[in-house]
Amino acid sequence: MTGLQLAFIRAHNQLVDRLRADGVPDSDLFEDARLALVWHYQWVILHDFLPTLVGNELTATVLQEGPRFYRLEGEPYIPVEFADAAYRYGHSQIKADYQLQHGGPRRPVFPDLAGFRPLAPDHAVEWQLLFDVPGQPPAQRAKPIDGQLPASLIRLPESITGAVEVNAYRSLAARDLHRGQGTGLPSGEAVAHAVGAKPLTRAELALGDWRGETPLWLYVLREAAVHGGGDRLGEVGGRIVAEVLVEIVRNDPESYLANNPSWRPTLPSHQRGTFKIRDLLVPAS
Ligand code: HEM
Repeated sequence: MTGLQLAFIRAHNQLVDRLRADGVPDSDLFEDARLALVWHYQWVILHDFLPTLVGNELTATVLQEGPRFYRLEGEPYIPVEFADAAYRYGHSQIKADYQLQHGGPRRPVFPDLAGFRPLAPDHAVEWQLLFDVPGQPPAQRAKPIDGQLPASLIRLPESITGAVEVNAYRSLAARDLHRGQGTGLPSGEAVAHAVGAKPLTRAELALGDWRGETPLWLYVLREAAVHGGGDRLGEVGGRIVAEVLVEIVRNDPESYLANNPSWRPTLPSHQRGTFKIRDLLVPAS
């Protein structure tokens, strides 16, 4: 996260230089660059991240037709189905270790990559090792979204969990399930029914002797494994994530969608006609 923050500060500074060259007065530079960076980021969420995560079709449908379920009355908010289940899909994508620098070692997530401290020089991230950039070797892949977590997240260190009374609270999977139960989330099958998706079969769920309905978080992971090849969320997870992200951007009075929906990114990109997260992290000339 610290590396990501640094990369965004660099992108901000790139925008400051560009705006200054365009003649924007010094008094407006910071605010104009901040807003331009937010718009680029929102663009990446809606045109790179979301299509990759939930597919082009669902993204386009939610952008064009609006939400079927996430209805806002007042301020935008994060629903519990998103925070306590669907968006925790990412816990299944984490790998045991990552290579951050060309020729550098593979570093385990814990303890090496735990945050809450300044970024050491040998932890500086060479982003082309994590995101595909044209002309460079393919980046490291995420772990498939499949319902399994790496051992490091099943035995979280005390620096993350604090002191725990029950050993199971060391497990991120146990915490995700516990949280979903605590907030009274509907089961995956119930949400599948509500969105009109065919529920996964017992064989597809692959939960052994478990006879009950499936906790929403686990359902979203299995659905991604069965219908999305481990790379993409299915109808239940995809619908929750897409509606929340699109509507939060649409209802942000500062967003490009609210102010100028025909706006397009202005920073250079590695491939004509596209603008992706890699273009924010690895500046193109
Ligand atoms: C090494 C990587 C990660 C670690 C160690 C980690 C750890 C955690 C922990 C300990 C919690 C609190 C769990 C609880 O007690 O309920 C949490 C919550 C959460 N995580 Fe992760 N996580 C990681 C990556 C991710 C990724 C990649 C995503 C999404 C793409 C994600 C999404 C979430 C969400 C949505 C929550 C709930 C946040 C809230 O409601 O406040 N996490 N994570």
